[in-house]
Amino acid sequence: MGNMPFSPIKIGSLELKNRFLMSAAVDGMAADPIARAQRYAELAAGGVGLIVAGRVLNKEVEFGRVADAVHERGGRIALQILSHMGLGFEPKVDSPAASVVPEGIDIFSNVFPYGRHHEASDGEIEDSIASLARAAKLAKSFGVDAIQVHSAHNSALFQFLTPLTNQRKDKWGGSIENRVRLHREVYKAVRSEIGSDIPLFIKLGVEDPFPNGLKLEEGIAAAKLLAECGYDAIEVSQGLQDFRDPKTMAGTPIRMGTVKMSQEGYFRAWCRDVKKAIDKPTIMTGGMRSFELVEEVLAGGETDMIGMCRPFVKEPGLVKRWEEGNRKKATCISCNKCGLGLMKGLPLACYVKEKWDLPLL
Ligand SMILES: Cc1cc2nc3c(=O)[nH]c(=O)nc-3n(C[C@H](O)[C@H](O)[C@H](O)COP(=O)(O)O)c2cc1C
Repeated sequence: MGNMPFSPIKIGSLELKNRFLMSAAVDGMAADPIARAQRYAELAAGGVGLIVAGRVLNKEVEFGRVADAVHERGGRIALQILSHMGLGFEPKVDSPAASVVPEGIDIFSNVFPYGRHHEASDGEIEDSIASLARAAKLAKSFGVDAIQVHSAHNSALFQFLTPLTNQRKDKWGGSIENRVRLHREVYKAVRSEIGSDIPLFIKLGVEDPFPNGLKLEEGIAAAKLLAECGYDAIEVSQGLQDFRDPKTMAGTPIRMGTVKMSQEGYFRAWCRDVKKAIDKPTIMTGGMRSFELVEEVLAGGETDMIGMCRPFVKEPGLVKRWEEGNRKKATCISCNKCGLGLMKGLPLACYVKEKWDLPLL
């Protein structure tokens, strides 16, 4: 109880100066490491307590420059890592996935065809665990302050968690304990690679919007098991995304039109329930826009931290602005043109003024 937006928090051994986290976003800036470092430096100078950068590729050794730029401005940075397995990850390749999903089950809409895939063998699962451990080691070598494992949205780890895409009969499927086995093995492998001094966060989908998908009770049970197994903090989001309503993106974690306060914080109740069930810090993400709401959910003990993504793309200095007393809500209108820009091959930025046609996808 009684958390405040600008009070520090310790997660594992990491001290953060406030309760604001930039939620992961792929940045499309690998080709320009200098501009990239500047972009993250701006976020650090703008007061974000912890910046979570979206995945980077193995060859992007320049990422160390980003971590240095953030540290020089008193910021902290984490990297998100994700498994290469799963439906839809590389639709043109025959990918190992939790299970074979029969044609006709529309889990992503036709925007992200799930493509050729086969049920992953034990060996392929072990390879994936080992490659996540290597990714974490690489992230540590960049000098990041924390690592986040991606098990939300369409990620492979979430595909193992939801019974919709995991119909395995072996130790990786069936009960919720079995469906989080992969997450626990990833925890152990990553920890043995990076040691105990860097906190390991997980972004967890706790429900998905499909019939026969993951139900909230199971998502909460998973959160409990993962907190017990050692993950240091849980960012709460949704699982598989339903892209069938491109005008509102209502079935996705990047909902549009978060204009009124009542539309904000669309995963608030889920995060509050997870927070009640675990004794590790939580991050509430998804349409958080108003300082009043941030204060309310922190003060009410509904979460320990607040995650925002699109607002920081538009206003890297938002936290500083709020801290200095201008408490007007984030100016982001959740138009998703930041995502559309990425899909056009542009760097992560706010493109609200572009005259691009929506729907997004
Ligand atoms: C352009 C863009 C890229 C994103 N990339 C990722 C990603 O790589 N990993 C992830 O977990 N979430 C990703 N997200 C989702 C965000 O982290 C966040 O969960 C979501 O946008 C809701 O927060 P918001 O309403 O504050 O934007 C992305 C979102 C956007 C808009």
